[in-house]
Amino acid sequence: MQPLRPVLFHPHIPSVEYIEQTLLPDTYEVRTAKTIPDLADAIIRLGIRGAPALGCAGACGVALSALLTKADSILEFVKQVKSDANLLKNTRPTAVNLFYGIDYVLNVVESALTIEEAKSRAVDAAREVIDSDSRTCHAIGKTGLSVIPDGARILTHCNAGALACAEWGTALGVIRSAHEAGKNISVYSCETRPLLQGSRLTTWELLRDEIDVTLITDSMAAVLMRKGEIDVVVVGADRIVSDAVFNKIGTYMHAVCAHAHNIPFYIAAPLSTFDEKSSESMITVEERDPDEVRKIRGCVTSPDQVPVWNPAFDATPVHLISGIITEYGIFSLPGDIEIINQLKKDKNIQV
Ligand code: MRU
Repeated sequence: MQPLRPVLFHPHIPSVEYIEQTLLPDTYEVRTAKTIPDLADAIIRLGIRGAPALGCAGACGVALSALLTKADSILEFVKQVKSDANLLKNTRPTAVNLFYGIDYVLNVVESALTIEEAKSRAVDAAREVIDSDSRTCHAIGKTGLSVIPDGARILTHCNAGALACAEWGTALGVIRSAHEAGKNISVYSCETRPLLQGSRLTTWELLRDEIDVTLITDSMAAVLMRKGEIDVVVVGADRIVSDAVFNKIGTYMHAVCAHAHNIPFYIAAPLSTFDEKSSESMITVEERDPDEVRKIRGCVTSPDQVPVWNPAFDATPVHLISGIITEYGIFSLPGDIEIINQLKKDKNIQV
């Protein structure tokens, strides 16, 4: 089976190619963004989604801007690319990887001496972000092997798979690596209302890889835990701050239940998802269109005008988390904050 690569950069067209995730699983369609507003729209609509994939899209977006920008001076050039970068930054506020990817390429553009140098270095930097995310996800998968026993029944929420990254995945990277290592595992995938990333994307990815998966609604997880049918929970993250982990709405509920039933609860995420200098109260949680809750994939399921609260993410306090599986080992917060900070400096990961 060909690996899924949800975001690719084509400098010669120039364009960003992406898998249109809102259409899955019914339709697999590859689309092309040739302008910054097109790319921003794909991000807002969740055509491209998942923290590391947003980082890749942000990086490609800045490189695309660099290739599209016509300017007479490097100063004017940088000003235009910065303005496009800001447009991309204003798409979704919570996943820190988006800002990491954008800033990684923007820094390269800002330090170039000529427009030609800026263009060619931006292309290389965007490719680096994608390639490094791919290597990172495989490393996260290897790290995670130690927490997945043979025979494990694993619960996951949302989609932290290849579709949410450059490929392979974070939480699903751990699951894929365990499967590849010959462990006999099975997965419960929570549906993930309102936008169904668990049922539409996670089950699709796992079936494609012939990994044993059962779909449940979000409200069924607690019962399975109480019945002793979940051995471990592994989910991804959108932003990891000093006192909490932000991830798809519903994650906190699973963490509380896992804690109540003594089930290990792991986050799988790259170092680029850490924003350890911030704390929970400093972070903006994206609130989305009420119709995403009033309807299910366009089909009306509630009265037209019923008031709705639709936060896309929640925060799980660190005391509910057994460990954070990264490409450099498994860490705990707040205890390992200095190690993480140092690792990010050593690896030049500026978030
Ligand atoms: O709103 P989404 O679909 O972008 O939310 C995605 C998630 O919450 C994922 O769990 C998270 O980004 C980790 S992806 C490796």
